[in-house]
Amino acid sequence: MAEKFIVEPCGALRGKMEIGGAKNAVLPVLAAAILTEQECVLQNVPDLSDVESMCVLLESLGAKTIMDKPSGTITVNTHAINSLDASYELVGKLRASFLVMGPLLARFGRAKVPLPGGCAIGSRPVDLHLKGFAALGAEIDNSHGFVTASAKRLRGAKIYLDFPSVGATENIMMAAALAQGQTILENCAIEPEIVDLANFLNTIGGKIRGAGTDTIKIEGVSSLTTPNPKHSIIPDRIEAGTFMIAAALTRGDVTLTNVMADHVKPVTAKLKEVNINVEESDTGVRVTCDPSCELIAADLKTLPYPGFPTDMQAQFMSLMATASGTSVITETVFENRFMQVGELKRMGAEIKIESRSAIVEGVPKLTGTQVVASDLRAGAALVLAALRAEGTTEITGIHHIERGYDRIDTRLNQLGASIVRVESEKE
Ligand code: UD1
Repeated sequence: MAEKFIVEPCGALRGKMEIGGAKNAVLPVLAAAILTEQECVLQNVPDLSDVESMCVLLESLGAKTIMDKPSGTITVNTHAINSLDASYELVGKLRASFLVMGPLLARFGRAKVPLPGGCAIGSRPVDLHLKGFAALGAEIDNSHGFVTASAKRLRGAKIYLDFPSVGATENIMMAAALAQGQTILENCAIEPEIVDLANFLNTIGGKIRGAGTDTIKIEGVSSLTTPNPKHSIIPDRIEAGTFMIAAALTRGDVTLTNVMADHVKPVTAKLKEVNINVEESDTGVRVTCDPSCELIAADLKTLPYPGFPTDMQAQFMSLMATASGTSVITETVFENRFMQVGELKRMGAEIKIESRSAIVEGVPKLTGTQVVASDLRAGAALVLAALRAEGTTEITGIHHIERGYDRIDTRLNQLGASIVRVESEKE
């Protein structure tokens, strides 16, 4: 039976909350574990359905994964992988599972993975991943909805990405880790999750330099065999940003720990611009505001890191929905990422979409009603909007939210929110 959230408006959120490990870091690291026969121990792993889906995919290939939820640890052993074909059902559930392609190809010389297809936020092609594999010497066959890549041994190459795609940078970096010779990856993504993946690859014996800059140099090695590798996943900057906006929306006082203040800088800067105080410390951030403070509108454009993250665009829109003035929110990373707009409008927001921009006219208040979470971040945006909306908001489709937030209801409630989870007939 599906579940839904019933959200009642709340006052200022207050207290302390520990942020979990990053979904977008742990998924590629799990895929990268395919590159080594050693048993890997991953720490600071968040309890998310996307993490479970990735483990199910690895198990379907013959790997063993053990998740210890209380300690946030996953042990993954890919020694006995006996299948190089990823199933359509599993990849369809989780786009990030396309990241098993580079590691399977590099270690076993072949991989067959279904094309991920579109999703709620756009068409999401994988051409850059495939161009990278081809440049490393793989033969690519793309037919009947499946991509098959094969190469006896990949060869290092100089690769320039047309766009700094996060997934393509990760997939190519993993493949190149076991290639013969050096790979230079230019115009690559510089997100913190790329750095985390490179650190993991170096922990298992890789030779990677420059992650976090737009040029990564990978010296291929013949095997990745460092014994007993252990790696702690970086904190989730998007979960942190979402809780920062929850604090701002309710004019609260919330301290978030296990946050790399540098990683949330784009969000911090925007919050300051709209009149919210953010103090940074070595362990996290504290978000406060004057109870009488008036939130002012600000424009925003999503960009690759260190620009404002596309994964925070929907949540920021919820904040702007009741700010004073007009904000223009422009999405440049994905072509169809305004799925929250229709639902926010049902809650009384005044938003117009013009091409890649949403023009948000701040209204004094939103009103609760029944809304549907269509994807992960759009769903989070609705939870945020509901915290301050007048009356009750019912949010269905919450399985999307659980892909990337560990118990968002319970954790917001610990800060003073009022969210109840109930069974729902509707998906
Ligand atoms: C990752 C994140 C996702 C985030 C996104 C952008 C994970 C698991 N997911 O997704 O949460 O929203 O980064 O920060 O880490 N593109 C191409 N060809 C390709 C690959 C991408 O044209 O081969 C385009 C996409 O359509 C999109 C843009 O590049 O318009 C960015 O995509 P990308 O950075 O690859 O995002 P993901 O890795 O899919």
